Amino acid sequence: MNPYPAALSYGRLLDPAQRPDPYPVFAELSREPVQRIDEHVWAVSGHADISRLLRDPRLSVQEPAVFGPDTPLGSDGEPFRGPFLRQDPPHHDTLRARTMHQFVPRILGLRPKIEAMVTELLDGLDGAGELDVVSALAYPLPVAVICELLGVPRSEEPVFHDFAARLTRALDPQESFTEEELADVAKTREDWRAYLTPMIVRRLAEPGDDLVSGLLADGDPAKRMTMLELATTLGLLLIAGHETTVNLIANGTLALLRDPAALARLRADPGLAPAVVEEVLRYDPPVQLTSRLTTAEVRIGDTTVPEGDHVLLLLAAGNRDPRRFADPDRFWPERPDNRHLAFGGGVHYCLGAALARMEGEAVLTAIATQLAAPRLVADPPPYRPNTILRGPAELRVAIG
Ligand code: HEM
Repeated sequence: MNPYPAALSYGRLLDPAQRPDPYPVFAELSREPVQRIDEHVWAVSGHADISRLLRDPRLSVQEPAVFGPDTPLGSDGEPFRGPFLRQDPPHHDTLRARTMHQFVPRILGLRPKIEAMVTELLDGLDGAGELDVVSALAYPLPVAVICELLGVPRSEEPVFHDFAARLTRALDPQESFTEEELADVAKTREDWRAYLTPMIVRRLAEPGDDLVSGLLADGDPAKRMTMLELATTLGLLLIAGHETTVNLIANGTLALLRDPAALARLRADPGLAPAVVEEVLRYDPPVQLTSRLTTAEVRIGDTTVPEGDHVLLLLAAGNRDPRRFADPDRFWPERPDNRHLAFGGGVHYCLGAALARMEGEAVLTAIATQLAAPRLVADPPPYRPNTILRGPAELRVAIG
């Protein structure tokens, strides 16, 4: 007999066949607020519990065991602590603050540029009767934006695109990896460092006004990031900001095209775009779950989770918690008080949330207002295999 009945649901969640609609499995996992899904792994599904646990300092993000092997990028004797997403305070706070200091002022004025990029991508379609929203808009836009921020020439966008896809796969639970994929993860990280090092050296010699030059030149030289910290942080921005935004755009387009009335409301009033994006983030979150390691015994509801266990925080389940959201399975942009968990919470709250919202608003508004009679060609669309950063592999839309 299976001692952990919920493990069955977790196994189903990892199964690529569930990607088009994982929400019934999340609902199964939500029957109990906390379920033991393996000897040392627990799944939490309630909005209030997840929200509280994201802010609980007894839960650490340093837990390479569940989320793939954290192979060092290769260092010159410097200990590799991983990207700050996987570091606890105080190290996390220092690196995050330095990154924010350079990141925030650079994204503030980006909105017009992002809208121009979307128009350029749509103009490039040249009157085609059908487009794949994933390859035509969702993939190229975040890459173009991150390249713009890092001062990387557009000719190198395909290289970034390729790295983003390969590095992102490394985030999935290693249970779902083949031996070959495990080896590829390690190689990808080495390749990334080999690609970045000469770029960083060039910026040291000839600083520009880009994020990389800013991070290299920031403040007190004694407090600057080391080469390894910088390469790792840039990898983090690429991974954290790419596939997530791709999924926001694709999931948003899908939700709108499945709900012609909502699409018509957005077309009539583009001011609805921020609310549409928030609802997409709740209804079909690009990051479906995240995880933590307990550094002390932690009580969750009536359950005591021992020290040293893994806790999976099912953001996608919390976003459909009926105790927090009325009619949670309904896509409803006008939903009041839509405080979803899509960007996490606490000290690791998404650093790129404002940028992701700008990109999502620009694309979904353009889809509603600039495409003539957009319709889904295949529903459901095919999905990529990733469990955590889940989204369609392609999304073909007929126009005109
Ligand atoms: C819709 C798009 C996005 C979603 C849904 C998303 C979601 C998330 C979530 C859930 C976390 C917290 C993970 C945890 O606590 O375990 C996170 C952290 C982070 N995100 Fe995003 N993200 C998005 C876009 C972006 C973008 C565009 C960037 C930057 C270019 C970015 C950069 C980061 C960084 C650096 C962190 C780590 C923050 C820290 O550890 O302090 N994200 N994101």
